[in-house]
Amino acid sequence: MANLFAGVGTSHVPAIGAAVDHGKTQEPYWKPLFDGYGPAREWMEKEQPDVVIVVYNDHASAFSLDLIPTFVMGVGEEFQPADEGYGPRKVPVVKGHPELAWHICESLIFDEFDITIAHNMPVDHGLTVPLSIMCDQPEEWPCKVIPLCVNVIQYPAPLGTRCYALGKAIRKAVDQYPEDLKVAIFGTGGMSHQLQGERAGLINKDFDIQFLDDLSKDPQRLVNIPQVEYLRESGSEGAEMVMWMVMRGALDDEVTEVHRHFHVPASNSAAGLIILENS
Ligand code: DHB
Ligand code: FE
Repeated sequence: MANLFAGVGTSHVPAIGAAVDHGKTQEPYWKPLFDGYGPAREWMEKEQPDVVIVVYNDHASAFSLDLIPTFVMGVGEEFQPADEGYGPRKVPVVKGHPELAWHICESLIFDEFDITIAHNMPVDHGLTVPLSIMCDQPEEWPCKVIPLCVNVIQYPAPLGTRCYALGKAIRKAVDQYPEDLKVAIFGTGGMSHQLQGERAGLINKDFDIQFLDDLSKDPQRLVNIPQVEYLRESGSEGAEMVMWMVMRGALDDEVTEVHRHFHVPASNSAAGLIILENS
């Protein structure tokens, strides 16, 4: 049977991807951040998941205000890196796992999550930067990837309770998939940052560190954070962190924290990374 064994929460700041792409990771600004990614990359190499479900948000790359799906799962064979204005990142094409993705979609819809199904969905920094953080610069990504895109850009975004329940429904689906597959799930975005308006530049370390602590030990507290609290405490783009609740919902109630890294600043964001394994 498939086994969903671990979850990763990570920021997806585009400048982190640019630092990798342009060989800047050892420069003084970036080195302390990338030093903390070392153990995560070692973990990824050691654990070798067959499939990673990456929960991310599109930043008006694949979708515009013309079409705003709340949850979309990619069931295609592959997903091209999106052109975000500077040409697509020169990273490997993302290879999907259509069979598992279709199985999850079917299970979700029968469980009353009416997920949108995408064959064709270019993937932007929200998805490719976490792969660069965890895998560096391989010729091919070392795992199949199932993109799960969440609308956190345009009000109304889904609540933490909904995201957590979606994670639980994904877990149920993966647990029922008959092939022996090692599956991980990444929740991406955040941590605290605001890119716009009067509070542009906002960082809230206390909120972020409490979030990481509770993600490990008291996820129930986080489930109930309303969107207005994310906005107030972690900034308008820090509200991306609700996507980490999908990841957490897919794990056991009790988890082991195997790695954590928190660094400010990375571009305009507080950068966080946490690896949780089912105990
Ligand atoms: C930044 C962070 C993001 O999550 C994003 O999508 C875009 C920019 C930043 O910190 O610059
Ligand atoms: Fe983002």
